[in-house]
Amino acid sequence: MPDTSPTPGFLLSFEGSEGCGKSTQIRLLRERLEQSGRKVEVLREPGGTEIGESIRHLLQHSKEGAAMTPEAELLLFAASRAQIVREKIRPLLEAGVFVILDRFLDSTSVYQGHARGLPLDAVNAINRFAIGGTLPQLTLLLDLDVQTAWQRIHATGRELDRMESQPPEFFEKVRQGYLHLAAAEPQRIQVIDANAAPEAVHEVVWARVAAKLA
Ligand code: TMP
Repeated sequence: MPDTSPTPGFLLSFEGSEGCGKSTQIRLLRERLEQSGRKVEVLREPGGTEIGESIRHLLQHSKEGAAMTPEAELLLFAASRAQIVREKIRPLLEAGVFVILDRFLDSTSVYQGHARGLPLDAVNAINRFAIGGTLPQLTLLLDLDVQTAWQRIHATGRELDRMESQPPEFFEKVRQGYLHLAAAEPQRIQVIDANAAPEAVHEVVWARVAAKLA
């Protein structure tokens, strides 16, 4: 039975392509929420649990990952999500915590569905099974053009992971996939222009969150 009952906490997810500034925005929002007296927990996907972190390693950096099929990739992301929803997210929401997710089900729809090209009905069904009704009340999509995002990733000078090493066309599909989802679910998924300075983007993030909490 899906769990759709309202909880005392709040569930917010951040989405966006590599280089969109998600980590910075999550840090700034966390600080501001804590200053306002809220208990905040940040969880990342894939990962966030012991099982999930092992899956993250398999997906991102292990040499076995090189031979991974898109179907296996989809199911591994879903497995990590099924675990974090039940082990962490639901208990935190019950305890009244403001939970910030660094990626959630929309990443799967976009990366495995729109970008890898797996059938969207299968991806959506697997997503639904993994979350079992635990949907974010708000999803903030940090939208950035592919060229700027590409420059930001390459400017770090660090070694790129399996997904970051995809060609620019892949990230164009990711961007368009996200915009498509946001158009289909405008109440939940709100698009934020991530091209401005981090402080300016944060003010928009804060305004969107405050409007939901009011
Ligand atoms: P990141 O958390 O550092 O952005 O890395 C996660 C990577 O995994 C990123 O390239 C997006 C990708 N990803 C998927 O392809 N599907 C998913 O369901 C999730 C959560 C992430």
